[in-house]
Amino acid sequence: MDTESAFFETPPQTVAVGQPLSRVDGRAKVTGAAKYSAEYNHLPGMVHAVIKTSDVAKGRVTGFDLSAAQLEPGVLAILTHQNLPKPALTAETKEGKEAIGYAVQMTFMPLQSDQIFYAGQPVAIVVADTLEHAQQAAAKLRVSVTAEAPVASYQDTKAPRYNPGGKPNADAEGTKRRGKAAEAFAAAPAQVTATYTHATNHHSPMEPSATIAHWEAADRLTVYDATQGVSWQQRALSAILGLPQDQVRVITKYLGGGFGCKGPIWPHSVLTALTAKAVGRPVKLVLTRPQMFTSVGHREDQEQTLRLGATKQGKLLALLHEKTSTTSPWDDYAETNSKFMGMLYQCPNFEATTKLVKGNVMTPTWMRAPGEAPGSFALESSLDDLAYQLGLDPVQIRLVNHADKDPATGQPWSSKSLKQCYARGAELFGWSKRNPKNGLTRDGKYLVGWGMATATYPVNDSQGNARVRLYADGHAVVQVAATDLGTGTYTVITQVAADCLGIAPDKVRFELGDSALPTTNISGGSMGAGTFASSVYTAAQDLWEKLTKMAVKDAKSPLFRAKPADVEVVKGRLQLKANPAKGEEFAALMKRASLTDLEGFGQGKYGAGYEAAQAGAAKADDAGKESGHAMYSFGAHFCEVQVDPELGTVRITKWVSVVAGGRILNPKTARSQVLGGATMGIGAALMEKTVRDPNLARYTNATLADYHVPVNADIPDMTVEFIDEKDPYINAMGVKGIGEIAIVGTAAAVGNAIFHATGRRLRSLPMTPDKVL
Ligand code: MOS
Repeated sequence: MDTESAFFETPPQTVAVGQPLSRVDGRAKVTGAAKYSAEYNHLPGMVHAVIKTSDVAKGRVTGFDLSAAQLEPGVLAILTHQNLPKPALTAETKEGKEAIGYAVQMTFMPLQSDQIFYAGQPVAIVVADTLEHAQQAAAKLRVSVTAEAPVASYQDTKAPRYNPGGKPNADAEGTKRRGKAAEAFAAAPAQVTATYTHATNHHSPMEPSATIAHWEAADRLTVYDATQGVSWQQRALSAILGLPQDQVRVITKYLGGGFGCKGPIWPHSVLTALTAKAVGRPVKLVLTRPQMFTSVGHREDQEQTLRLGATKQGKLLALLHEKTSTTSPWDDYAETNSKFMGMLYQCPNFEATTKLVKGNVMTPTWMRAPGEAPGSFALESSLDDLAYQLGLDPVQIRLVNHADKDPATGQPWSSKSLKQCYARGAELFGWSKRNPKNGLTRDGKYLVGWGMATATYPVNDSQGNARVRLYADGHAVVQVAATDLGTGTYTVITQVAADCLGIAPDKVRFELGDSALPTTNISGGSMGAGTFASSVYTAAQDLWEKLTKMAVKDAKSPLFRAKPADVEVVKGRLQLKANPAKGEEFAALMKRASLTDLEGFGQGKYGAGYEAAQAGAAKADDAGKESGHAMYSFGAHFCEVQVDPELGTVRITKWVSVVAGGRILNPKTARSQVLGGATMGIGAALMEKTVRDPNLARYTNATLADYHVPVNADIPDMTVEFIDEKDPYINAMGVKGIGEIAIVGTAAAVGNAIFHATGRRLRSLPMTPDKVL
């Protein structure tokens, strides 16, 4: 973007942006008008698919007895590896992986051979005229298998551990080492060594994954899929099915959560498309709740050993991190805990190692703050230990180790308000009244403890497109192939568009959730709001540039013969910067030109911050990267627990989160994001655990009755605040994203509070009563 095309400050006249606007899609949701992916029931001749899964985790399919199933009413087809149409490509080959792209995490495609690699693997698909008929026939279908002893997890000592990077100290994603960590640790006057375990967790969104595949022609497919990214899904599906991208359309108008499990493309979506092809009818597949535990990834079970070396004043000298986790037979996926380890605190000597064990499980995947969430449990607990060992306040030891620039790269931060988060959080919580000794505070029979922890999350590299169409009658249609997980994307982008176009939010219709719209990134990695907002901003700039060119050439315009660079736009009015009285509304200009509407197109980019854009930097597109800034959001959590000394139960009785996440587009939806993130972190801290039987490698609690997540009674009235932060580097709207940061540090804040209450340090998640006692 050059100087001429920057027509307004960032953001432009914040009228709607920053307001606690209620969800624009709220009414559609509560009245049932909002259509989720399983609700496109109008398709002619639509039929229902049910997946039959393997109970054994390792073995082979030796045969099928279809006779009873085929006699059930309404059955149209029973598809197995013997008769399902083959995909054109799978990600098992290098060529396939490249074509399918980032969207695939599990490279294995079931139903291609007789081999069974994990419990829950699809072995057959039954199609019938109704869901009930399909379920009944699937129950009658007999599948014969041979079973072998599986590997259930990294805890199986017989299974080989390997390093995915291939080098002795390589991290899965090549995190750099710095200094001489082992030597510095050995020489450090204060040391903490501890091992932490994190249970397998599942995302468990309210809306189960669902796919409806509709072949509108032999080579044209429309898919209604519960995905966090329609553009990604379009690219992946077209490659897998061997179709041009524009012949695959993916629609996702509403999502009931995802937390990462709807980010990548999973086999069930592909299998539904192949099934629809086989039966020649639109096919609907909805995963059952138990299937949600074996179809869309999980947070891997993992163990971390952390060694901290420090001075007597608590200054970190060395940080050594080793992680071991379970991955799938085909992929080397592991959450990257080490990135977080290497950047959060100033520490000259750092080393991280990752080891994997191939188990008979599906490939794990991103789950809210993958890497940062489990990593922060280890680091923020060990730092708390160090504080006690040295007689320092937990906030103080974090200030002592505050990184004034990114320790991993040496780059300055684009912005960092962590100290303000600590200060404001401590103030809101009343931290100064804390008894520094543990086990001494009581409320009746309950042991009371206070703990805190730091949170951070990167601003991830992302870009995407947007289109704005402004009508002379004063309304606008704004389009991005974005998705709204339920987090408020519809709402916040409506606010951004309203301000960029100088009209009221109720004059904006924001359309998303359709791969036919301008392509963009997924709603994931906390990238959505920043990417979509910035692309709408640049699209609006493009529109105003067109209108300004029209005005200065229009003899009837007050701006006739003005230089475009001298024109600004204020609330939809084009005017001279030097003489604002001279100008006109866009509607007048458009009407004289006989235009009912005009379109702008733009791309929002990571690192293309507004300061660079407005300064006309030659490389504005890469301004953030070029100017070498490290981009992160930061925050702090403060937690009070009451522990029952007889039962070992832990109740969260007070909670404060303070987050600095760049520009907050909508404090109401942003607050909800933080409430949700912290609640999910409390779930991981106190109750969430998927149990994989060590002999059978099968989940024993794959239902929401048995996989415990927090309910209202588990969560107190939380206090959430944001630090006002203007970041000129990250993207055009200065939005860092806040979808994930609130789960980071949460489990440690709870564990630190339990330690303060009881004197017991718990290093194994979840911290259930049996461990507390
Ligand atoms: Mo998030 S785990 O990238 O959906």
